[in-house]
Amino acid sequence: MERDGWSDPSIAKGYADGFEMATQLVAEKLADAVGANPNVEVLDLCTGHGVVAKELVTRGAKVTGLDFSKPMILLAKSAVPKAIFVQGDAMAMEFADESFDAVTIGFGVPHFPDTRRGLIEAARVLKTGGKLAFSIWHGQGSNGSFGWLFDAVGRLADPSITLPAGPDAHELADFVTAKSIVQDAGFTDVKLKEIASELSLKNPEALFDLFDGGAVRTASLLSRQPDSRREAIRRDLAMRTKRDGTKKGQGYFVPAPSVVISAVRI
Ligand SMILES: C[S@@+](CC[C@H](N)C(=O)[O-])C[C@H]1O[C@@H](n2cnc3c(N)ncnc32)[C@H](O)[C@@H]1O
Repeated sequence: MERDGWSDPSIAKGYADGFEMATQLVAEKLADAVGANPNVEVLDLCTGHGVVAKELVTRGAKVTGLDFSKPMILLAKSAVPKAIFVQGDAMAMEFADESFDAVTIGFGVPHFPDTRRGLIEAARVLKTGGKLAFSIWHGQGSNGSFGWLFDAVGRLADPSITLPAGPDAHELADFVTAKSIVQDAGFTDVKLKEIASELSLKNPEALFDLFDGGAVRTASLLSRQPDSRREAIRRDLAMRTKRDGTKKGQGYFVPAPSVVISAVRI
């Protein structure tokens, strides 16, 4: 489902445009966390439209980006001509063991079908002492876009229609959980940093449209709702945007808090 969803050119473009502001800020933190510089060879997993790869290249690192979505790879290639991009599955890569000095994963881990197995595969391609850094959105219960969505869904969605089965997309935003899973995958020195990211919205309705047309699992949940419930969720998110967002011209900034987790390969 993840592969099919992200391979839809309109979802790839919707994500790249809609999440641009927040992902750029987090890309800088990921590049900081792995100490990107001209002596570092980095593998950027779930590279998407290349936002993290671009930041790493700007700092002089030698970058390979990997994603299983062809439309994402095409966006990344045109945005970052200096990086190498390959189409592939982060859960089973063709790279040899201990090929890279660092691995970055911008908002990709929550899409792995098995978090632990995905991190073990990242550890395999890292040299001993190599650095890992990945980002996760804060989700249910948080004060921000994802929290607002899950709150609206809990009150207004058809309860018989649930998120497709899969790992909890936001569980690693909790340090204790993240530390245990990341250590278990072969890492030490696990750190978690809170990032006060924001999304830039053209209008109050744009938050619903983003989850509906620029993501995969949330889009699947929203698209299966009856029209009346979709409208209720849309109105609720627009109300939260107006009430709790910051007005900027015609548009709004809304919080999209995230974390960056970093660790060192044993
Ligand atoms: C939310 S986007 C993140 C894009 C970018 N890294 C960022 O920081 O904004 C998630 C990306 O992960 C890719 N992806 C998800 N699971 C993957 C897997 N198992 N192997 C390769 N790519 C995967 C999707 O195709 C999508 O481009």
